[in-house]
Amino acid sequence: MHCKIAIDGPAGSGKTTVAKEVAKRLGIDYLDTGAMYRIVGLYLHNSDTDPNATEEIEQRLKNVSIEYKNGRYYLNGNIVGDEIRTAEAGMYASIYSASPVVRKYLTQLQKEICANRSIVAEGRDIGTVVMPNAQVKIFLNASPEVRAKRRYEELKAKGTEVSYDELLKQIIERDKKDTSREIAPLIKAQDSIEIDTSDLTIEEVVNKIIKIANEKCKIVKEQ
Ligand code: DC
Repeated sequence: MHCKIAIDGPAGSGKTTVAKEVAKRLGIDYLDTGAMYRIVGLYLHNSDTDPNATEEIEQRLKNVSIEYKNGRYYLNGNIVGDEIRTAEAGMYASIYSASPVVRKYLTQLQKEICANRSIVAEGRDIGTVVMPNAQVKIFLNASPEVRAKRRYEELKAKGTEVSYDELLKQIIERDKKDTSREIAPLIKAQDSIEIDTSDLTIEEVVNKIIKIANEKCKIVKEQ
């Protein structure tokens, strides 16, 4: 039986760092679905597409091929780099992710990637839509202030000077967009376990999840 772990939560909750580490320790695959929304969001923005123009988006997506090989994404055959990691790309991802066509397209792709393997997938709707059958569903959370501070430190370490207040504003705005959209909004799956990471170290969060995964995946194996 494959062990499927869904990790959802808002921007800056620690999802990416934690999900990567859990996958590494368990020796299973890792999927960052936010990266896929960033790739498509940036692509549609760069091609001047109206986020509400359903048919135009549908047409554009026909020319898009996203592949995921050895932990790297390829857009129409070209490797995707750090251009999707900016705050603007995050905002475009959030805007275009409200489009039903974009969601349908990426959800299908994500379901295919997650099928028939043990995997840790992270995003906003993994436990609710992409892997509703995952044995382990985690919802990571932290206060907007803690999340903004984390982003601030992360960007500062990379040499990017940003204002903390601006980051906090962006986080609150993105939360509002992600939780209020009609399709697959960011909500905690009923059967998910919420972990508030505000006062926990990465190590503590990872250990909690590994413990849950060992219990849940073993239970499934023994059935
Ligand atoms: O996790 P992230 O910050 O890279 O995600 C960027 C945006 O993509 C996020 O604001 C909302 C969207 N997203 C989504 O709608 N569903 C997902 N499963 C993952 C991300």
